Amino acid sequence: TGGTATATKRVLLLKPRGFCAGVVRAIDIVQIALDTFGAPVYVRKEIVHNSYVVNDLAQKGAIFVNELDEVPEGARVIYSAHGVSPAVRQRAKERNLKVIDATCPLVTKVHLEAIKFAKQGYSLVLVGHRDHEEVEGTQGEAPTVTQVVSTPAEVDVLVVPDPDKVAYLTQTTLSLDEAGTMIEALKKKFPNIAGPHAQDICYATENRQTAVKNVAHGADLVLVVGSRNSSNSNRLVEVSMNLGTNSHLIDKAQDIEPRWLEGVATVAITAGASAPEILVQEVVQYLQGKGYGSVEEVEVMPENVRFGLPPEIVQAITPAR
Ligand code: F3S
Repeated sequence: TGGTATATKRVLLLKPRGFCAGVVRAIDIVQIALDTFGAPVYVRKEIVHNSYVVNDLAQKGAIFVNELDEVPEGARVIYSAHGVSPAVRQRAKERNLKVIDATCPLVTKVHLEAIKFAKQGYSLVLVGHRDHEEVEGTQGEAPTVTQVVSTPAEVDVLVVPDPDKVAYLTQTTLSLDEAGTMIEALKKKFPNIAGPHAQDICYATENRQTAVKNVAHGADLVLVVGSRNSSNSNRLVEVSMNLGTNSHLIDKAQDIEPRWLEGVATVAITAGASAPEILVQEVVQYLQGKGYGSVEEVEVMPENVRFGLPPEIVQAITPAR
C-alpha cells in the first residue's frame, strides 16, 4: 500500500497515457480541414469523446452536429474517430456532402471483419456497449445479422439460426478482463464460434489498462483524466476499482474533491485515449499545491504508433503540380 498520510505524498504519472494514434489523427484532420478549407467545417458527433478537445475545435470554427441532416446540402463534413454505418455514408451521398473520414483505422478494421463474416453467412455477436457510437457504426455494417451483447446473461439468451455459424467481434475500447469473460461465455454457448484473427481491443486501450494494473496496488488513489462519455476512460476507473484501489474519472483538476485525498499518500494519474496532456499537467500542478511534492513518471511500456492521414486530407494539403 502507499502508506499513511504522514508518508511522503507523491504522484505517479503513468505512461503510456492520454492521446492514442487514432485521436491524434482525428484532431489533426479537423485542424487541417479548418486551415485548408476555412471555417465552418462540420463534424458529425464529437470528433473524439473529450469536452476540452471539442470546445477547442468549436472555437476554431468546427460545427458539431448529431446527424447529417443538420449539415447544409453540399457542405464539407468530417466523420468522427468512432466510425459510421453504411446508412450514414448513404445519407451523405444523397445530400451531396464532401466527406472527410476520421474513423480510426483500428475501428475500420473491425468493420471489415463484420463485412467479411456477414458475407460468409455468419450470425454476428458484437460485444460492446449498445449506446456507443462505435457500436452503432459496426452493427450498421450487417444490421440484420448482428446482435449486441454486454453481459454474460445476454449471451445465455442469444438465439441464432445456426449455432455452428456464429462469429464474434468486440468494441475496441472494452476492458480486457470483461472481454475475456464475455468471449469465454460465447465459446461455452457456441463451441464453434469464429472470431477476429487478433483481438479487436486496440493497443491503446490495452496499454493504458496494463499500466493501471501495474501500479494500482502501489497507489492509494488512481485519477483518470477523461470525459464521462469516453469508453476507454471509464474502463480505466473500473480496472483500478477491481484491483481494490479507489479511482475517479475527472475532466479537469477542478473536479477533484478534497475529501478524495484524505489519508492518501500516493496518487497515480493516467488519462484516457482522448484526454489532452495539458489537462493532466493541470492535475499534477493541483496535487503539487496540495503537498504532493514528488512526481515520478512510471513508463510501463513504450508506445510509438502513428497513423497516416486519409486521402481526402493528403490531397488537400499536397500542392498542385
Ligand atoms: Fe483508435 Fe483505439 Fe484510439 S480504436 S481511436 S487507437 S482508442
